[in-house]
Amino acid sequence: MLEHLDRLAPDPILGLMAAFRADTDPRKVDLGVGVYRDEGGETPVMQAVREAEREVLERQTTKTYVAPAGNAGFNEAIGRLVLGEGHSALSGGRVRVVQAPGGCGALRLGAELIRVAAPEAVVYVSTPTWANHVPLLSGCGLALKRYPYFDAATGAVAFDAMMGALDTLPARSVVLLHASCHNPTGADLAEGQWREVLSLIQRRALLPFIDIAYQGLGAGLDEDAFAPRLLCAQLPEALVAVSCSKNFGLYRERVGALISLSQTQTAADAALSQLVRIARGLYSMPPDHGAAIVARVLGSGLRDLWERELSAMRGRILELRAEAARALAAACPRRDFSHIVRQKGMFSYLGIDQDVVRRLRDSHHVYMTDDSRINIAGLRHENIPHFAEAVARAIG
Ligand code: LMR
Repeated sequence: MLEHLDRLAPDPILGLMAAFRADTDPRKVDLGVGVYRDEGGETPVMQAVREAEREVLERQTTKTYVAPAGNAGFNEAIGRLVLGEGHSALSGGRVRVVQAPGGCGALRLGAELIRVAAPEAVVYVSTPTWANHVPLLSGCGLALKRYPYFDAATGAVAFDAMMGALDTLPARSVVLLHASCHNPTGADLAEGQWREVLSLIQRRALLPFIDIAYQGLGAGLDEDAFAPRLLCAQLPEALVAVSCSKNFGLYRERVGALISLSQTQTAADAALSQLVRIARGLYSMPPDHGAAIVARVLGSGLRDLWERELSAMRGRILELRAEAARALAAACPRRDFSHIVRQKGMFSYLGIDQDVVRRLRDSHHVYMTDDSRINIAGLRHENIPHFAEAVARAIG
């Protein structure tokens, strides 16, 4: 039976990671997979996380099952981290949080919940969007369509085109929105634009499904959560997929959560019961280790240390953005890369053609995805000159 399976091409992001690891050139630069790196090129374990992990291990007395909804302390802490202390939806009892295996698990849980509630629903994702949104959201059978999002000429959100497209959607369409640090473009909506999106969602009775995977790595913990806070305060229903991979550096531990907002407490309990059933059928229950660490960081004196570390990571990304833009401006005077400093989070689009991207990889050992997305946090002050020079040569 299995002999007829087609061999598939590697995942565009994870395949690049493997190609980079296999490259033995000492000058190689990894701007592919979205992981934070320090000046030594390492993805460090944050000190707050290391300390919390030690405390978790010391206090843990059993490895028995937790529950399909995961770690209750983690779920409560994540609701407050994302929506903010005292958020009206939390105090109104309309929010339920379910721990998930990473942000990916949360996206899939949300998609499965939508499929149960409205199998005919269409999910609209931005053009472009994170490559893995497509299999995660459509893999359960939901139809996926696109809305315009990015203006390559300005490096900013094509806001009018986006709003024009969303304003044609039928009621009960689902719109996948990136809360901040848009992956792959780094182009985010301004607060005023989010307010306009909110009005449109209300007017057309759409369901927002917000992906927040980089809270704290763009403009700040509160600023990056502006969209879920606003939308969950004003709308009857919303879904929010949360990832702790980047802001806690817990990538391999697979820590995430799905926040669901319902119109009433009764509807919220029903949604929770469905999510628990879905989780049980997909993976039974999420892994506890990373969630226990996050719960400890957020619920102890370690939170200050974590916030300081996160703020240092954010500051470093901003510095790298400025330095990369300066170096590219000097090396490629005929091209405009100034959008890099206006964009937020880990990613920017360089805006170069795929053949140039391939030349950068093959001749200069600089790795990025084919659409020219670069992980800014993969740069180092030390390799920025090589990077800018390589881009200039590859463009020719
Ligand atoms: C990325 O976009 O590179 C990260 O979110 C890692 C991944 O799983 O794709």
